[in-house]
Amino acid sequence: MKQIRVAVNGVSGRMGREALSAVCREAGLTPVGGADLSAAAGAVALPDGSGEIPVSGSLEDVIGSADVVVDFTNAEGAMQAIRTASPLGTAVVVGSTGLGESDVGEAADLADRHGVGVFIAPNFALGAAVMVHLAKVAAPFFDYADLTEMHHEAKIDAPSGTALAIARAAADARRGRPFVSNVPEKQTLEGTRGGTHEGISVHSARMPGRMAHHELVFGALGQTLTIRHDSINRESFMPGVVMAIRHVVKGPGLTVGLENILGL
Ligand SMILES: NC(=O)c1ccc[n+]([C@@H]2O[C@H](COP(=O)([O-])OP(=O)(O)OC[C@H]3O[C@@H](n4cnc5c(N)ncnc54)[C@H](O)[C@@H]3O)[C@@H](O)[C@H]2O)c1
Repeated sequence: MKQIRVAVNGVSGRMGREALSAVCREAGLTPVGGADLSAAAGAVALPDGSGEIPVSGSLEDVIGSADVVVDFTNAEGAMQAIRTASPLGTAVVVGSTGLGESDVGEAADLADRHGVGVFIAPNFALGAAVMVHLAKVAAPFFDYADLTEMHHEAKIDAPSGTALAIARAAADARRGRPFVSNVPEKQTLEGTRGGTHEGISVHSARMPGRMAHHELVFGALGQTLTIRHDSINRESFMPGVVMAIRHVVKGPGLTVGLENILGL
């Protein structure tokens, strides 16, 4: 079987370590290097005990023979990784969140210009991708929507990239009919109605004991419909990461969102 060679950017972080383990476990994928701002140049033992790979503070030093870079750093690290990898013909799978529209535009540009695959997904849990799809299906039938996302206390961005993807999917499915947002006449505590996207109230909660949870409640006369997804550990993201790695090496261009390769 032809091996897909994978370098992990952000390899010392929580998701990077999990991604390295997943790459080691998966037949057909071979880890070839790791980069992390906090890493000293050297080598790191593979989690399955099968050997070691070179690590460096700089992706350029370890990208060498990689077919794919998997990035779990932050928005800035992800954009640096795409700028480094694409001119070399190396595909990129981005798990980092917080990328803005201009970042996504630049990623599309680089993917086209260099003829490489770039895959960006704010949430690699298969269930979360299905949730984005279900949000689109249900949105036309309800005029009210509340979206609550709950994460661990160390998450740096709010709302989550997944919450934004769900809100955008639901709003787009309404075809120009925004959701109805109740604006209280008097707000005794500022911010309690959350942020809004096209009339959807979006709330972010952060505390230890949580991983990644999204709950979308649609409302209409006398009824609500709740769609909820819970990731209870970081392993939940790995089947999606592996799918994205296998997809991104197939051809050039940018793909945003795991739901686009699930055949939904
Ligand atoms: N897409 C998904 O399914 C998914 C799931 C969970 C987390 N995330 C995202 O993944 C990212 C990482 O999360 P985490 O919990 O592993 O964070 P973390 O802080 O544990 O790890 C991030 C690592 O990246 C390194 N880093 C930062 N900037 C860098 C750069 N420019 N170049 C190289 N390395 C750099 C840090 O030193 C750190 O080791 C976050 O953006 C998070 O929101 C995505």
